[in-house]
Amino acid sequence: MSSLVVRNIGELLTNDPTIGESPMGRRFNAAVVIDGGVVAWIGESAKAPAADSVIDAGGGAVLPGFVDSHTHLIFAGERSAEFEARMASVAYDGGGIWSTVKATRAASSEFLRRRSQRLRGEMLCQGTTTIEVKSGYELTVAGEQRLVEIASELSDEVTFLGAHTVPEEYASDRDGYIELVAGAMLDACSSHARWADVFCEGVAFSVDESRYVLGAAAQKGLGLRVHGNQLAHSGGIALAVEMEAASVDHCTHYTKDDVTLLTDSDVVASLLPAAEFSTRSPYPNARELLDAGVTVALATDCNPGTAFVTSMPFVVALAVREMSMTVDEALWAATLGGARALRRSDVGYLGLGACGDLMVLDAPRAAHVAYRPGSSLVQHVVRDGVATSFEESVSW
Ligand code: NIG
Ligand code: FE
Repeated sequence: MSSLVVRNIGELLTNDPTIGESPMGRRFNAAVVIDGGVVAWIGESAKAPAADSVIDAGGGAVLPGFVDSHTHLIFAGERSAEFEARMASVAYDGGGIWSTVKATRAASSEFLRRRSQRLRGEMLCQGTTTIEVKSGYELTVAGEQRLVEIASELSDEVTFLGAHTVPEEYASDRDGYIELVAGAMLDACSSHARWADVFCEGVAFSVDESRYVLGAAAQKGLGLRVHGNQLAHSGGIALAVEMEAASVDHCTHYTKDDVTLLTDSDVVASLLPAAEFSTRSPYPNARELLDAGVTVALATDCNPGTAFVTSMPFVVALAVREMSMTVDEALWAATLGGARALRRSDVGYLGLGACGDLMVLDAPRAAHVAYRPGSSLVQHVVRDGVATSFEESVSW
């Protein structure tokens, strides 16, 4: 495996407090060497050792690749009409999931593969080097198995989400569906999945139903994640803490007790502001969670219903502008926060031995991610030490 040096970095964020100013591990005029896919050297640019290939950052900023810890990337169809209706004041109630299920069931595996790879490509261009990918848009044993298999071609972070909604054929037998999810469907999916998730919400699954599915998944050795408290105070946060889930996602509605539970646990609160943006809903209060010491991650929630968004830079900009997060807090939450939500210790930072995943911006400071929303600032993405270039930059 060859080595790569990224030199002439204006501002470097490493998220490693042993490397630079805490907590972002910030350095200036730096260089990073990646050897054998991992970070091997960090120091002053002028002193950088030689490597097989060179990226000259031209004074641009470098930060760890984004870790998008919550995506529903594998689906067919689109729901722009639902979005238009929502913008004309129709509230989101989860009902649209069913239309995506119908479209996905009817799609060929080849189509699903191409569509999800295309979305994965969009993410990579915007600096995302690690993604989690959920199933949840077929809701049959064979269908969910097909989705986790396709997901496993895109990522090691595959999540079984059979408990996304009750499909129409089980409308009068929800208990039967829950038995199916926790039984044959889980059996068919568990070998391709690392995680199980449930949509714990009044419009989907109750706390007891969610607990039952998560318990079965834990017995199979899967890690747990919860969609909780998106539309109302669903009890999903308390359930995630009780079940020692890695992450509870959305957290749009929460109480002081929920904050205490989260503070005293290892559960990451993953905030998904693109969903609030695309459903025109109030954003979660990130400040209260951060001030209480809760670990916060940011993710896209990319899905055709509530957030057809692949851009972590857009999510970071929303978090800063709409959720009172500082720029540093948002960049940390989109990188190391995402890694924590996936219980990964190799990504989300650029310490020695970390994965060689980073992005070079056509901007002198990482803050430009939030400061220049809508511009494509990512000039190079390096994944496992291998570079992809996008555009020429000016010199900063
Ligand atoms: O995270 N809330 C559940 N799942 C998705 C939405 C799915 C859909 O509407 O298709 C979400 O927002
Ligand atoms: Fe989601």
